[in-house]
Amino acid sequence: MLLTYSNLMNILDSIKNDLRKAIGKPKHRFRYFSMATCGLHGHIRQRILVLRDVADDFTLTAYTDSRSKKMMHIRENSEVSLLFFNSSKFIQVTMTANVRVEKDEETVLELWNRIKPRSRKDYITELPPGTIIQDPSEVGHQENIHYFTVLKLVPEKIEYVKLQKINHLRILFSRNGDSWDSCYLVP
Ligand SMILES: Cc1cc2nc3c(=O)[nH]c(=O)nc-3n(C[C@H](O)[C@H](O)[C@H](O)COP(=O)(O)O)c2cc1C
Repeated sequence: MLLTYSNLMNILDSIKNDLRKAIGKPKHRFRYFSMATCGLHGHIRQRILVLRDVADDFTLTAYTDSRSKKMMHIRENSEVSLLFFNSSKFIQVTMTANVRVEKDEETVLELWNRIKPRSRKDYITELPPGTIIQDPSEVGHQENIHYFTVLKLVPEKIEYVKLQKINHLRILFSRNGDSWDSCYLVP
């Protein structure tokens, strides 16, 4: 069966709906995603992040510590690769995105105030993330300062792959101004 343009846009909408369902649902397969960064000299790193928000235009929100290695990579190269995998539906969603660090202090403060006190400790460690320590219980926390950072991930390309018994599906969505172009790819 050949999917029409409107079917393809339904698939793009269903990706957004699924991502939105994952926010706040700890067990949803799309709640955790991998973000790969590529710093200077082509050094690549990837790590898992929690998906915090999905805007209408597909801008994703994630939180991190401003001192983490990913921030250095992002300063060197703002293009990142994102990977979501729903293992129960055999769906892979990959994105090429540009990262913008939220600079509006009021917005950051509002989000910071919404974080549960026990989760805030992730952003207030005395030593920066990645510092060598002798014992995990050694990690100290600061009272009056935080390194909470809001990342806005703006996808330029979204690729959807669904493995099926008959005809696997692979679709590429490319941002074109305020809308999206779409085409099938050989899976
Ligand atoms: C389930 C899970 C969720 C995580 N969520 C986040 C997150 O939302 N933000 C974050 O900065 N790190 C998160 N981490 C830790 C990162 O995967 C990573 O280890 C850390 O951010 C340091 O990465 P970097 O040194 O490449 O910057 C999470 C790890 C796991 C296992």
